[in-house]
Amino acid sequence: MGSTFQANFDFNDYHRIVFFTGAGISAESGIPTYRGKGGFWNQYDYEEYACQRAFDRDPEKVWEFHEQRRKFVSECEPAPGHRIITEIQHLKPATRVITQNIDGMHQRAGSVHLIELHGSLWRVRCPREGTISENFEIPLRTRRCTCGEYLRPDIVWFEDALDEEILNKAIATILKADLLITIGTSATVFPAAEIPLLALRRRIPSIEINLEETETSRLYTLSLRGSAGQNLRLLRDQSSLPIV
Ligand code: OAD
Repeated sequence: MGSTFQANFDFNDYHRIVFFTGAGISAESGIPTYRGKGGFWNQYDYEEYACQRAFDRDPEKVWEFHEQRRKFVSECEPAPGHRIITEIQHLKPATRVITQNIDGMHQRAGSVHLIELHGSLWRVRCPREGTISENFEIPLRTRRCTCGEYLRPDIVWFEDALDEEILNKAIATILKADLLITIGTSATVFPAAEIPLLALRRRIPSIEINLEETETSRLYTLSLRGSAGQNLRLLRDQSSLPIV
């Protein structure tokens, strides 16, 4: 299927592109991915730092971890991949971005119409009042809400449910797309594996950009092996694509 599609493929034909991104796009900003060599969860135990149980047990320790992440990410810059997506969004304003990343890099690169499936390092939530606010302080001025409750990062931790409204918005966005481009995700966390199935259901073309094959590669019309930045540049410039 890949070669037929490649022969007919003209990026200029697509205007309602959905980019679905994971940690691989930010790897080129210097932010470690979660799995594989050097992966974040090989180094840190999520049960100690990234679940509600850990927070209930020791909120200061969990905050310490997240404050370090905020500081680290704030010292990184958006990668070429983030910037190319923004450029494409300027050229094709119906382009949408759905990300699993919590690092805020798409916004820093100037992307709009962004759906953050897993929340953001740059928002805090009061579990008692349900209020959510942006917060870019490093370190946080206070880890407590005015009501006295501990604020928590507005992140979908392990064992948390995804926000149903956000998930439905993401699905609706893909159902309106004419091209899906998935970048840098191992597709091991729900709903990443379902995303290419939505494209299949709609019979729209889909492209996976990843350094390596994933569990879901076979569900895509095209697989582009290599880095996010390099392949997005090729797509944008309509150069010959390294199809696998
Ligand atoms: P993973 O770390 O599971 O996977 C990263 C993927 O990016 C792998 O398939 C790599 O091959 C690929 N990759 C690495 N560098 C790349 C590059 N330069 N160009 C292209 N691809 C590259 O990250 P995710 O799939 O995003 O949850 O992880 C999903 C979720 O699991 C995350 O959102 C996170 C984590 O627990 C939260 O933070 C809440």
